[in-house]
Amino acid sequence: MLVSSVQKLIFSTTDAVAQAVADRIAEVIRSKPAVVLGLATGGTMEPVYARLVAAFQKGEVSFAGVTSFNLDEYAGLSASHPGSYRSTMNRLLFDHVDIDKERTFLPEASPGAPDKAGEHYERMIAEAGGIDLLLLGIGRNGHIGFNEPGSVEDSRTRLVELHQDTLEANARFFSDQPVPATAITMGIGTILSAKQIALMATGASKQDAIRRATGGGFQIDCPASALQKHGDVRWFLDTAAAGLPMAA
Ligand code: PGA
Repeated sequence: MLVSSVQKLIFSTTDAVAQAVADRIAEVIRSKPAVVLGLATGGTMEPVYARLVAAFQKGEVSFAGVTSFNLDEYAGLSASHPGSYRSTMNRLLFDHVDIDKERTFLPEASPGAPDKAGEHYERMIAEAGGIDLLLLGIGRNGHIGFNEPGSVEDSRTRLVELHQDTLEANARFFSDQPVPATAITMGIGTILSAKQIALMATGASKQDAIRRATGGGFQIDCPASALQKHGDVRWFLDTAAAGLPMAA
């Protein structure tokens, strides 16, 4: 494992990255059982959740005191649809561990009061004491949560339109209908308010986004570059995402 000055933790395999992220989450839960976690979806996170479930089954970690807030959710999709992030989180993690589902939250774009939905989520996070550790993936276009290029640094939880690149990247999760084009997401400002951030990226398709996100200051066309302003971000990467040659 290589450690660079911007806390890039670089591993030679995807499995090793997932294990390191799961280990970090479990370590944080053990040190603060009533921790508030920010959680992410996406293919990258699936092996992380599988490892957390395994750790729970081995008695290595308990989620009984954990409160969680997911980054984002599609708008106009019922929670029971298999492509919703609520269903995804239940299927990958919540159904298999001892977390109290009443304390697992995802933003909801209630059709009646779309403008209020973001404010409500922000208030809930604040009332929980803020997010201790936020898990993040990154889009090929540099998005974090569903903050697409063009999102401003102080944005908060709000409804957004997804970009074409994101719709294409996420089509694999929807066999019966197009990917919803609207979502509700924590803003970049919400993300930067988390006390600690763990961003995970694997594969060469993320290499360009990681390069732009980790150097050169904030660029509005790469939302993840705002993370350079946060004092405690760990970048969990495989060699391909880090742009390093593969180990021989
Ligand atoms: P992925 O998505 O893990 O499916 O690549 C990451 C993201 O869009 O944040």
